[in-house]
Amino acid sequence: MPYATITGVGAYLPKRVLTNRDLEAMVDTSDEWIITRTGIRERRIVDEAESTSTLGAAAARAALKDAGLKAKDLDLLVVGTTSPDHIFPSTGALIQRLIGARCPAVDVMAACTSFVYALQHATSAVESGRASRVLVVGADALTRYVDFTDRTTCVLFGDGAGAVVLEAADEPGVLGIDLGTDGTGSDVLTIKAGGSAFPCTAERLDGREQYLRMSGSEVFKFAVRVIPETTLRALAASNLSIDDVDWLVPHQANQRILDTVEQRLGIPHNRVFSNIASVGNTSSASIPLALNDLYTDGQLHPGDILVLVGFGAGLTWGAAIVRWTKGSAE
Ligand code: ACO
Repeated sequence: MPYATITGVGAYLPKRVLTNRDLEAMVDTSDEWIITRTGIRERRIVDEAESTSTLGAAAARAALKDAGLKAKDLDLLVVGTTSPDHIFPSTGALIQRLIGARCPAVDVMAACTSFVYALQHATSAVESGRASRVLVVGADALTRYVDFTDRTTCVLFGDGAGAVVLEAADEPGVLGIDLGTDGTGSDVLTIKAGGSAFPCTAERLDGREQYLRMSGSEVFKFAVRVIPETTLRALAASNLSIDDVDWLVPHQANQRILDTVEQRLGIPHNRVFSNIASVGNTSSASIPLALNDLYTDGQLHPGDILVLVGFGAGLTWGAAIVRWTKGSAE
């Protein structure tokens, strides 16, 4: 059975910066509240010409370049996103067109856990021998679905994209993945209108039902429970323990969530990656963006053990154990 390993990493952030000070002018909030409650100082947001597919395509091109591949070399493109350009066609199809690939392309939607779910699809395709060069994209422009009159959510989210190339290899890279879903928590975090249950009508738009709504404290409690659980399950399945981990690369939703998880797992602070201060919660993009930051900063070395761990609406969660087989970024 071939193994799957990461051979390329790339990312893209929109140019437009939205600071906490900018938000102070939009809703009743403060820089101090946002920093102490979330750790976020600024985030990037799309402009009129951008969307999830354009962000994803930019990250995809960067990852392909890093892997030394052309888009036409790909066997499969899997896009994790929770803010697709359209209901259909898929964002995968749009990114395929933008980068000039010819392979099958598909979207995977598990909210902020989408990237880990997409990685699982890609890994299975490689390990089964059905594909040997797969591009996995995590991309979101969730600010398009954020109500900028709701201070409880609009301060949290930013836009961006990250991507990895996964290739068949003789040595193991992706060691194991733990995934989970609890649909009984599906009303904790939702975008209600715009799908087949509640199509957009003038009344629903007036009621602002097309925007993201969240019970923040419920999500917080869920996250600090499930991140340690899925991390430890995935490590155990790979015959590893938390002491073997060089980098925990968690979904970036709230610095207080990361600090609590760090305590519960008993992992040293300098092994828990955080870039939330500068990007906010970028949903499906957050894990590959974090991975790209570590990589381009020269923090990853061959043999390092990484835990890519996410949680999100659904409720969903997942952790991938990755053995780094590349060198540092050039
Ligand atoms: N500025 C100022 N005050 C605010 C703001 C704001 N932006 N937002 C809320 N407040 C107020 C509240 O109204 C409340 O006031 P009250 O006490 O008078 O009622 C007070 O601050 C405290 O509100 P809480 O909700 O209790 O604040 P908390 O400390 O729980 O922080 C937060 C809220 C940041 C949302 C936190 O609960 C959190 O991060 N939860 C997890 C969210 C998350 O991870 N979401 C992403 C999921 S991923 C996905 O799938 C999309």
